[in-house]
Amino acid sequence: MLVLPKGVRHIPGHLDRDEQASLVEDIRAVVRQAPLYRPEMPRSGKPLSVRMTNCGDLGWVADKSGYRYQRQHPVTDAPWPPVPDRLLQLWTRLTGETRFPQACLVNFYDSGARMGLHQDRDEADFSAPVVSISLGDACLFRIGGTKRDQPTRSFRLESGDIVILGGESRLAFHGVDRIYPATSTLLRDGGRINLTLRRVTA
Ligand code: SIN
Ligand code: FE2
Repeated sequence: MLVLPKGVRHIPGHLDRDEQASLVEDIRAVVRQAPLYRPEMPRSGKPLSVRMTNCGDLGWVADKSGYRYQRQHPVTDAPWPPVPDRLLQLWTRLTGETRFPQACLVNFYDSGARMGLHQDRDEADFSAPVVSISLGDACLFRIGGTKRDQPTRSFRLESGDIVILGGESRLAFHGVDRIYPATSTLLRDGGRINLTLRRVTA
């Protein structure tokens, strides 16, 4: 059995097919208001392979000047749409938090997209966990410790899986090594959606 670092929870198949389909509808509505865009790496300005948007009071953005949270979409300048109720309920059920998430990052991976090993550390408060939801094609997810040089392990995330990074793994390094194309029929045109719910301010 795969032993995960303390504070990491992987809940395979937490969302059934109907719940997944409803979430996809919610996210389509978000994307109609706040279109997916392609962020750039700080300094180099190199485009990421993942396309992104957000919902919630604050959205995570990346561009030449750095990584940060902001209230407006970087392309349209409009405020982010609210986090859909279904996601708020899921957050409360999974975390037991009394506060709602302030940010929901929407990542879209096409078959060639990946995400390098990183920490989620642009928040001012790490007391709440990060809740991550996978929809669509499967991926190979990598997780390690809180230092970049610590050993990592990889496992597959399927549509409907949840990963929670909390406690001593709130700042664990993680990334997405690859997408497994055509492993799900949830998204008409394939690809993978990942949603990450976070608290940002104290
Ligand atoms: C992320 O770390 O922002 C995304 C993780 C994932 O796609 O599963
Ligand atoms: Fe992350």
